[in-house]
Amino acid sequence: MELHVREMREEDLPVVYEINVNSFTTDAWSMDSLRREFKLPYSRKYVLETEGSMVGYAILWLIKEEAFIMTFAIHPGYRGRGVGRWFLSELLEKLRGEARVVQLDVRKSNLQAIKLYRSLGFKIVRERPKFYSDGETALVMELELSKELV
Ligand SMILES: CC(C)(COP(=O)(O)OP(=O)(O)OC[C@H]1O[C@@H](n2cnc3c(N)ncnc32)[C@H](O)[C@@H]1OP(=O)(O)O)[C@@H](O)C(=O)NCCC(=O)NCCS
Repeated sequence: MELHVREMREEDLPVVYEINVNSFTTDAWSMDSLRREFKLPYSRKYVLETEGSMVGYAILWLIKEEAFIMTFAIHPGYRGRGVGRWFLSELLEKLRGEARVVQLDVRKSNLQAIKLYRSLGFKIVRERPKFYSDGETALVMELELSKELV
């Protein structure tokens, strides 16, 4: 499967939205919040494609030397095949040289995502109790790019 990362365009939003709502049962982003990202100078948005179909997306914020992965998902039909790992590695590659540290929030129960982040060198640095609307705790995970494993 040949994968290709490119910058997200506004016309990608319906498909991004679709993957987003199929990936997050609560706290999915609205179309308005996705659209707002195009007005933020510190927002970086990417999509992952294979043979012209979008199979994933990521929205990151880069503020000074700190990057934050705001949302990241792979199309449900393409999970479990190494696509997420490849995409995340590419995103980290893009950040190298610009960001010193990369952070993200992840649900404490999202073991797949936590495992993926850990395998790329992210460490749990703290918790945000009741962060999500259903009361679940978020884990804050962080990667220092200079100490990255890949
Ligand atoms: C988390 C997510 C991005 C992973 O993408 P993916 O393409 O399925 O992941 P990969 O196939 O690249 O797998 C990477 C690693 O994730 C973990 N993983 C993936 N699927 C897993 C599963 N079913 N069970 C346990 N771990 C799993 C493993 O560590 C795996 O590495 P390994 O294959 O060496 O064991 C994807 O499941 C997703 O979009 N989930 C819904 C949205 C989400 O949770 N986003 C992250 C929010 S912080």
